Amino acid sequence: MNKNIITQAYEVNRSMRNQSNAHPSFVLWFTGLSGSGKSTLANAVEKILFQKGVQTYTLDGDNIRQGVNKGLGFSAEDRKENLRRIAEVAKLFVDAGQICFSAFISPMRKDRAMIASIVGEEDFYEVFIDTPIEVCEERDVKGLYKKARSGEIPNFTGISAPYEAPNNPDLHIQTQDESIEESAQKIVAFIENKIKK
Ligand code: ADX
Repeated sequence: MNKNIITQAYEVNRSMRNQSNAHPSFVLWFTGLSGSGKSTLANAVEKILFQKGVQTYTLDGDNIRQGVNKGLGFSAEDRKENLRRIAEVAKLFVDAGQICFSAFISPMRKDRAMIASIVGEEDFYEVFIDTPIEVCEERDVKGLYKKARSGEIPNFTGISAPYEAPNNPDLHIQTQDESIEESAQKIVAFIENKIKK
């Protein structure tokens, strides 16, 4: 750390924002394969919570990789840097009083542990969007699995790059057995339990 950089403290702080919003702020980190439903579920959950006046924001791989993380690829090293930066951004959203959804494949356990330590363990909840690869590949919403199988996309998670499932997620959503609405309601219930006074 550069000794000439000194942390500024602002008088309008997280605790005041949490009080004003009437709920705490934290990160729900969605991990799962491409096409598992991470962004779809974050979207569905946000719609429900917005109606209830809960402050939320969603960060997701496909969008962030077109802006802040433009230029990063899918090597193990680039994924780690992608996730490190997003963890820092998510932490800012927590400071800004938001319940932050982060929808990234985040395939490696050690990278997710890094994220938790950047965000702060107490503000980090890991949500496993558990959709089997066969189902993701069958859905192939973006046509990427087909390209990965043909070799057009290298290092594709689940095909030619690893995915390490969480051992002990805070929430485990198995999308193949339920509707988007049912999965979303489980996530909403988890959040409401965390924010109830
Ligand atoms: S992560 O591994 O670094 O967490 P991230 O969530 O940001 O990945 O980006 C994943 C998205 O990028 C996928 O949903 C998919 O649309 C796209 N993508 C492009 N190339 C790859 C690849 N090689 N592996 C996985 N996803 C890819």
